[in-house]
Amino acid sequence: MEFSIKSGAPENLAADCMAIGVFAGVKPRLTSAGKALDQAVNGAIQAILDKGDFSGKTGSCQFLYNLPGMKCERVLLFGLGKESEATTGFTRAIRAAVKAIAATRVEEALIALDADSDAPDKIRLATLAAADELTRKNWTEQKEKNDVLKKLAFWRVAGAKRDAGAEEKALREGEAIAAGMKAARTLGDMPANQCTPGYLADAAEKLAKRHKLHCEILDEKAIRAAGMNALLAVAQGSRQPPRFIVLEYKPRSGKKSAAKPLALIGKGITFDSGGISLKPPANMDEMKFDMCGAASVIGVMEAVARLRLPLHLVALIPACENMPGGDATRPGDVIATLSGQTVEILNTDAEGRLILCDALTYAKRFDPIAIIDVATLTGACAIALGRVAHGLFANDDALSAALLKAGEMIDDRAWRLPLWNDYQEALDSQFADMSNSGGREGGAITGACFLSRFVDKKTPWAHLDIAGTAWKTGKEKGATGRPVAMLCQYLLNLADGKTAGRG
Ligand code: BES
Ligand code: MN
Ligand code: ZN
Repeated sequence: MEFSIKSGAPENLAADCMAIGVFAGVKPRLTSAGKALDQAVNGAIQAILDKGDFSGKTGSCQFLYNLPGMKCERVLLFGLGKESEATTGFTRAIRAAVKAIAATRVEEALIALDADSDAPDKIRLATLAAADELTRKNWTEQKEKNDVLKKLAFWRVAGAKRDAGAEEKALREGEAIAAGMKAARTLGDMPANQCTPGYLADAAEKLAKRHKLHCEILDEKAIRAAGMNALLAVAQGSRQPPRFIVLEYKPRSGKKSAAKPLALIGKGITFDSGGISLKPPANMDEMKFDMCGAASVIGVMEAVARLRLPLHLVALIPACENMPGGDATRPGDVIATLSGQTVEILNTDAEGRLILCDALTYAKRFDPIAIIDVATLTGACAIALGRVAHGLFANDDALSAALLKAGEMIDDRAWRLPLWNDYQEALDSQFADMSNSGGREGGAITGACFLSRFVDKKTPWAHLDIAGTAWKTGKEKGATGRPVAMLCQYLLNLADGKTAGRG
């Protein structure tokens, strides 16, 4: 798909389709770009709206054909909902419009956008939504492959006050984020017999080759030598050997390449059977998605490398499979983590925190300015927040605020939950420094509390629990590519000079 931005007089527009946004209300209203087009056709569009058949409800679409005075053969009215729906309504509307267009014979389409001051943000958002929607095909659609739509352009009213450079940059950012999300979805959707820890490591190496990044893969022997016993404990029930992936991105030149890195950590459980604390059979297939944290970190590296952002990043991915077996850890086993702290494994299904705690300790050697880990950590988080918001935990208000804001901007939102000390005692153990399970109550929080014990207080750290958001269940089952967009927007803001956290 070729994306671009076009501007010019409405009467000269040549494309197969022009999409125009309509706000919902008692009297549905055209956007200002829509009004400019309406003038060019002597009010023909408004006259149709006045008939009252089109509500402007978010996601609604209506094709109009051969409007007198209009060069484009088709006009698509697409509902933007109420203005208060902000970014969420906007992305949903763009997705619906693009989906409607992709179902026609249209090869080249234009989408009219308003001349607001936030145009670059809107263009980034719209490009991402459109690109992501167009690459989301189910199995039958893929087989019937019918990609007629080739070009999508955002049309801006001629003469409107605008920063064309910033808009073009935002468009490229939207495309890069979409590519990152696609990489994350592709890995996430793969079955666990194909997407093994070794496969994830190969994917990281391939990405590194393509973009000239530094990549180091620790195999089982190297993981043992490094002392990551918690990762080994989870891996030992599986025939699949574990991997620990280190992927480093540095800008080609400039002082930023010498600056301390930001560390991203992704949970890479390629299949979570629960281990000896075996999960019930219903929906167990979805535990192939338990590496979506790892996939999203790889997706972010893909986007950042494409954009050549002036930032220093290190991605750390502990990857293994959680299986029952003769060598598997038993409930009650005590292990020594890389940090030196001991853990009593009360529940072998609380394995994510075990592989992550060693990665959090390992991250110290990079002396990072901040650490963000991403994990499908707890079913409890999905219960608490559903499938809309990521769970966010942080030891730093500035980092938390920056992530929440990025999520709002790019419509990939998180919601902060507490990390209060009161929750820590749920992890008390009679036989080790802590247990790995705080029980059912406040499960997302006690999971985060466990991780917090492996981060020193002076490093800004955030934990994203994506158990409810990393994939869709039911009829549309599949990885979402979240939170690649939120993290990329956070990094774009950071590259723009906003703080990583703590002042
Ligand atoms: N990967 C799961 C979390 C999960 C479950 C994500 C269902 C999405 C849907 C994780 O490893 C896990 O099993 N967590 C346990 C923790 C408990 C044993 C303390 C959970 O959530 O039940
Ligand atoms: Mn588990
Ligand atoms: Zn898991």
